Amino acid sequence: MRIHTYEKLWLVAAFLLIVGFIATITYGSVGLGIQMIDDSEETLSPDDINDDERFGEPRVEQVGENEYEAYVVAQTFIFQPDPIEIPANSRVTFYVTSRDVIHGFDVVGTNTNTMVIPGEVSKMTVEFDEPDEYGIVCNEYCGDFHHTMEGQLNVVP
Ligand code: CUA
Repeated sequence: MRIHTYEKLWLVAAFLLIVGFIATITYGSVGLGIQMIDDSEETLSPDDINDDERFGEPRVEQVGENEYEAYVVAQTFIFQPDPIEIPANSRVTFYVTSRDVIHGFDVVGTNTNTMVIPGEVSKMTVEFDEPDEYGIVCNEYCGDFHHTMEGQLNVVP
């Protein structure tokens, strides 16, 4: 059986649309100086945060020449560390977990944005080019002072 030519065209068009959407989501922040290139998740009980090698002391750690890891804890109504300091021209893998309820970790004006769920570790790899300052906001309702839950991310020279 032959597929009608128009049907083929529509299939191709639909496929291109999907690819376009994915590209938009993946590369949406090109030109903004910071770009998320990967994300995934692992688990960690909130009860274990204080004893955890990474999250017991939230921080940014150098792991290679231009490679860093950032261990971030969200809790009502702060992010730790604050500010998060990142050297320019670096690649940073963020590990973000919550001590209490669901929070958001949204670097304002970029596509670096994730839900932070207690018991889970959100992982994102982000590239930083130019020195700049970004606000971090929580975009999941987490209680009375949700609207005050902010942090700062500084890309330093
Ligand atoms: Cu934390 Cu809203």
